Order: sequence, then structure tokens, then C-alpha cells
Amino acid sequence: MKLIHLTDLHLVPPGELLWGLDPFARLDAALRDIEAHHADADCCIMTGDLSERGEVAAYRLLQDRLQQFPVRTHVMLGNHDNRENFLSVFGGADASGHVQKTLVKDGMHLLLLDTLKGPPSSAGLYDAPRRAWLSAELDKARGAPVYLFMHHPPFDIGHALMDLIKLDDAEAFAALLKGHDVRHIFFGHAHRTISGVWNGIGFSSLPGVNHQLPLVGASVQTVYSDEPPMYAAVTLTPGMTIVHSDAFLHRKPALMPEEAERGDWF
Ligand SMILES: [Fe+2]
Repeated sequence: MKLIHLTDLHLVPPGELLWGLDPFARLDAALRDIEAHHADADCCIMTGDLSERGEVAAYRLLQDRLQQFPVRTHVMLGNHDNRENFLSVFGGADASGHVQKTLVKDGMHLLLLDTLKGPPSSAGLYDAPRRAWLSAELDKARGAPVYLFMHHPPFDIGHALMDLIKLDDAEAFAALLKGHDVRHIFFGHAHRTISGVWNGIGFSSLPGVNHQLPLVGASVQTVYSDEPPMYAAVTLTPGMTIVHSDAFLHRKPALMPEEAERGDWF
């Protein structure tokens, strides 16, 4: 299957900028690019921080935009979101009131988790009711390949600021996954491209749609940075996971003749 991973939109009401950037214009640019080049994707998954301040107006705008978007899109919560306001627009709570669901395609199980803890904390939480849901969904997979989507990483990523606000009770979360064929964790929150392996499970994250987090805090004068936003085009088969990050806003022709390098040299 093919899916698009997009994260950390940080939408604000129309007409407002966030850190000097226009998150809604950037989202539109991303959706137009995906529509032009990846309309064959089975789905798009947005791993949280859909809004900057959790306003209903931001969620309504996102919903309006997605109604015109041809790729079926699943929206998730991050620490900047407000669950009540989200549910008033999108609905979709599970039995314990959290925004979680499972997608099954070609024998692969995609589990979308709700790690929102709530203010004043920016960290993530995966408490007993959520763990019960995940445990049941992992059992339902019966050994089939599982892919997790979550806003907060359940481990340190080697970033001083981010490691303070990862998922709480990470050990309990890790214990839950043991004995299941979890292949990959797609997360947001980090506002950076990161990939690696944790406990034998592959993982990847992406820059946000609006602002980014510098790898080295002192490398710019501000906490956040203006680096290229990206989405990821992901191909999943039971045998392989491929994640292509694409800097849609900064893709321009190179300074070269259009016919150059088009021979049969490859
Ligand atoms: Fe974020």
C-alpha cells in the first residue's frame, strides 16, 4: 500500500501567521503537491499538532480543506490539540473517549494512537485505557505486520529539548509491544527528519508543515527555525517499508539545460 505521512500543521485562524509563516498556505501547498503527484495513495495520515492552540475554527478549516482533497485523510491529536474541540468537528472517539483507530490493508494493520496528555504538559501520555485498546488491537492482528502512528516518540531521540517531552511511561509502552510483529513507528512532534531502529522496530519522523526545530539549539537565535517543510510518501509491503521525505515547497529546477543528463548513461 501507499500512504502519505504529514505532521505538525500548527494551523491558526485564517489571516494569522505563526512565527512569521502561514501554516494554512503551507498546508494548501502540501495538499496540492500530493494531489498532483500522489493521488494514487491509499490514504494520508496526519500525526497530530493539527492546530497551534486547539481552536474549533482551525479544525473546521482543516475539515473544509480535506473535503476537497481526493486522498482519504486520517487526522490525529498532538500536544497542541484540544480533544474536545477536535471531537466536536471530526468525531471519532473510541470507547474510552480517545481518538484512536485501526486501518487494515493488504494484511497489514495500521494503528493510529492518541498520545495527548493535555496542558500544561507538552509530553505525551499513554495511560491504562489507551493501553487496553492497543493491547486488544495488537491481539486482533494475530501476528500480522503492525505499523504504529503516534504524535510522541516513545523513546529518546537524542535531542535535548524533545527528550524532555517524549511519551511518559515509555517502558510500559515498550512492554506492550513485545511479542507482536510491530514493523515501524511513524511519529511527529520532533519537527525534524529522523529515522532509526528502536528495540528492533524501525521509525521515522518528519519536519512540520510550518516551523521546524533546529538540531542544535544554538545554531539559530530562536527556539524554532525556518527549514524546508516536508511530507513523506510511504510504501508498505509485508516485506519492506520505504519512506521518501519530499521538500515540496523547495523543489525547483536545477540551473541546467532541460535536455542535459537525459541520455542513456544510466
Ligand atoms: Fe508540533
